[in-house]
Amino acid sequence: MIPGLTVFRDQDILAEAAAKFIVQKLSMDVAARRKANLVLSGGNTPRAVYEKLGYAADETGLDWRNVHLFWGDERCVPPDHPESNYRMVQESLLQSISIPEGNVHRIKCESSPADAATQYSSEMREHFSLKGDTIPSFDLVLLGTGEDGHVASIFPGSSAETEMDYLVTSTFVEKLQVNRITMTLPVLKNAAEILILVAGRAKARILRSLFLDENLRLPVHQIRSASGKVQWFADRDAASMLPEGIAE
Ligand code: 6PG
Repeated sequence: MIPGLTVFRDQDILAEAAAKFIVQKLSMDVAARRKANLVLSGGNTPRAVYEKLGYAADETGLDWRNVHLFWGDERCVPPDHPESNYRMVQESLLQSISIPEGNVHRIKCESSPADAATQYSSEMREHFSLKGDTIPSFDLVLLGTGEDGHVASIFPGSSAETEMDYLVTSTFVEKLQVNRITMTLPVLKNAAEILILVAGRAKARILRSLFLDENLRLPVHQIRSASGKVQWFADRDAASMLPEGIAE
């Protein structure tokens, strides 16, 4: 058995379970502290989760006025660009919920990547009233991973992979020829809880390496040593290279 790994029959069932998991976690944090801070993942996998999140929240009466949304990373494109993670969340979640504008912390990367990283870091520091080099602890961080083992926009071999001093950094992704802004590993790993969504046959090899290869040290492997609870939601395709019966 692999602690923390749950395998779902298909991506739709995974999305449904993830949406319910997120709402349950946010509701518990709001009940305890009247506020919850959620870091959203970009990419394609989470879109179906966010589309179900609005309904799941309605079912439980989650009040979005108590929830703050941040992005784990963003592509340096305008917010209405097809590649924008903000646009993806706007289309799949924001347009179907009532959340105060001040609770939506978009990474503004229309200007210089370095300025965008500095501005986002300042926004986080202000939100958490951080002093000195304190690292914020988000209640829940959502992540995906690439076949190459990147998380957020922390790509293997990039400057972001070894950035341990800043909360947010800008990075030029050679293979995509694009600038990106990303929360750094120290921030991601300091979350109270992390949920990583892994779907599709193309992710089977990286998922297998996560659970069967202790020595690999790609960014996604670093998440294994996060300080909080780490959960992996995978579909059967992504889990297809794991030994039979190994998942919970
Ligand atoms: C992004 C994400 C990135 C994503 C992985 C998996 O901005 O693209 O932050 O880290 O989670 O690339 O993406 P898919 O869900 O599209 O496979």
